[in-house]
Amino acid sequence: MAGSFTLAIIGGTGAEGQGLALRFARAGHRVIIGSRNDERAAAAAAAINRRLGREAATGAANQAAAASADIVVLTVPYAAQRATVEEVRDALAGKILVDATAPLKPPKVARVQLPPEGSAVAAIQALLGPAVRVVSAFQNVPAHRLKDLDGAVDCDVLVCGDDAAARETTIALAADIGLTAWHAGPIVNSAAAAALTSVLMAINMRYKSPGAGIRITGIAAQEGAAERPAVV
Ligand SMILES: NC(=O)c1ccc[n+]([C@@H]2O[C@H](COP(=O)([O-])OP(=O)(O)OC[C@H]3O[C@@H](n4cnc5c(N)ncnc54)[C@H](OP(=O)(O)O)[C@@H]3O)[C@@H](O)[C@H]2O)c1
Repeated sequence: MAGSFTLAIIGGTGAEGQGLALRFARAGHRVIIGSRNDERAAAAAAAINRRLGREAATGAANQAAAASADIVVLTVPYAAQRATVEEVRDALAGKILVDATAPLKPPKVARVQLPPEGSAVAAIQALLGPAVRVVSAFQNVPAHRLKDLDGAVDCDVLVCGDDAAARETTIALAADIGLTAWHAGPIVNSAAAAALTSVLMAINMRYKSPGAGIRITGIAAQEGAAERPAVV
């Protein structure tokens, strides 16, 4: 295990945030669900605690959640990404921000529509500066797979970021929830992971299956390549 962290999931009332929060809580991390609304946060935390049968999650307003966390995970829609980061910015200094944002622009979510600056997550790193180590991860992991605690999440995780130690911590967090994650280069490379999200959605639509994922192949077991974990 990566060590036991307090993780704030900003947007943890939504699909992806709930899935990640549930799995992180089951893995033994302390989870704080962040929301713009205290009651929604508390309700989402209570739902996790009911499923796990123990008090593993609490709820708080986004800013308070981020302030209380060791590591902050961002799971809000692209349209809300920058404003949400600005809202919690003061609480992020010195921390890792794991950003799962894929820049989807409804209704054409199965079409790659990267922002003019290329990577939506690199834009957040540029906004926050070096005091916050921003990492992109989990863009390709479907929420419904995360929420199905009895099922395997058949998808690797590409971890991009300019700080190798922050990537390593994120890879370990992914391993804690049963996912194989990979150092995938600097934060600008997150454009590729984000673009893949729309590719996977196009595949899902064409093959009428909600669960397309990616696997990295061709890497022998070695230092830096996490062993594929047992199904969690
Ligand atoms: N869904 C997936 O399968 C999936 C997979 C991989 C990556 N992602 C990425 O994860 C992120 C979240 O996706 P999602 O499907 O979980 O989204 P979602 O359920 O639509 O929204 C997540 C949460 O974001 C907050 N939010 C929504 N609109 C907002 C706004 N205008 N301003 C501030 N906060 C707002 C809401 O929380 P409160 O109202 O409680 O504040 C909401 O519960 C996206 O960037 C998406 O690309 C999703």
